[in-house]
Amino acid sequence: MSETSSRKPPSGKRVLSGTQPSGAIHIGNWFGAIRQYIALQEQNRGTYFIADLHSLNSIRDAAERRAFTVGLAMDYLALGLDPARSVLYRQSDLIETTELAWILTTLTPMGLLERCHSYKDKVSHGQKPDHGLFAYPVLMAADILIHRADVVPVGGDQKQHLEVTRDIAVKFNATYGDVLALPEPFIVDEVAHVPGTDGQKMSKTYGNTIGVFTPSKQLRKQVMGVVTDSLGVDEPKDPDASHVYRLYCLFASPDEQAEMARRFRAGGLGYGDAKKELLAKVLEHFGPARERREELARDPDVVEDVLRDGLRRARETADPLMAAVREAAGIGRPR
Ligand code: ADP
Ligand code: TRP
Repeated sequence: MSETSSRKPPSGKRVLSGTQPSGAIHIGNWFGAIRQYIALQEQNRGTYFIADLHSLNSIRDAAERRAFTVGLAMDYLALGLDPARSVLYRQSDLIETTELAWILTTLTPMGLLERCHSYKDKVSHGQKPDHGLFAYPVLMAADILIHRADVVPVGGDQKQHLEVTRDIAVKFNATYGDVLALPEPFIVDEVAHVPGTDGQKMSKTYGNTIGVFTPSKQLRKQVMGVVTDSLGVDEPKDPDASHVYRLYCLFASPDEQAEMARRFRAGGLGYGDAKKELLAKVLEHFGPARERREELARDPDVVEDVLRDGLRRARETADPLMAAVREAAGIGRPR
């Protein structure tokens, strides 16, 4: 793959990114993924979707899914996704994605899916190996191919799914003619492996998160709950060994980082006070987004309007592509 894993951000491309609505987003999601996805809208034609069909694999409560789906759309808008410039839609609204997924599924060798690490990991962690989980990379391929996306920004864990997408597209083109475009992955910067409140990787699954939009009282609890050693206020501390300091660095300028490191080493800065400074930073950093998120939550119609308009614009690329796919594969009414 020519540009595969290239570190240079794409520009002037059709960029596509999907996110599963699986719960409240945390600062790990922001620094490790969402911030970078949204930034790509500046130089590219960005299409973003809320992957509610994918969430069927992990969430089995309908009301919860709806709430997470609309909630994630609000999160994206509050965090700066610009609906005038970018397309934001709900995956299940573009239902032809499932039609394409079926067509692609008939061309997907079992071995290709059997090799997928993400499937094997999930099963080894106790998730039931049902067909949806197994076939999920094919639905993901359909998400991408339906838009003729050039570039797909993803974390390293999804790179293999992009390879699967390309393999399936090649197979379709070889079988039915050259209709599908091969996307390139853009592996986003993973230096920001954000630690959770217990020092492990921050993750919803580990219950060690600091939320982006968590109400202040609960947010305070999360931050004050960051695990520390038992050194007293006056004792010198190693900043690099402290989760509080590592988290603080995500939000602080280089000067502020150096200053807190100095105070840690000198003794006299207790963990409680350092956590309060961290909390202030989190609130300051996400303050404007948190306000916008509250406004959006008061008026959910605004979000539905954005999603409706996003769907209309998503169809501008997806409808002709599906017409070409049906024509090539010989299904549906002839054109
Ligand atoms: P979670 O582990 O909380 O369920 P997801 O798997 O939904 O998070 O992650 C969504 C995106 O956020 C992925 O691209 C992932 O790489 C990124 N991400 C999740 N947790 C972190 C973290 N602690 N540090 C950096 N990036 C993260
Ligand atoms: N599989 C991705 C994840 O779990 C979400 C996703 C679904 C996606 N379809 C996509 C990402 C298409 C990029 C393009 O994070």
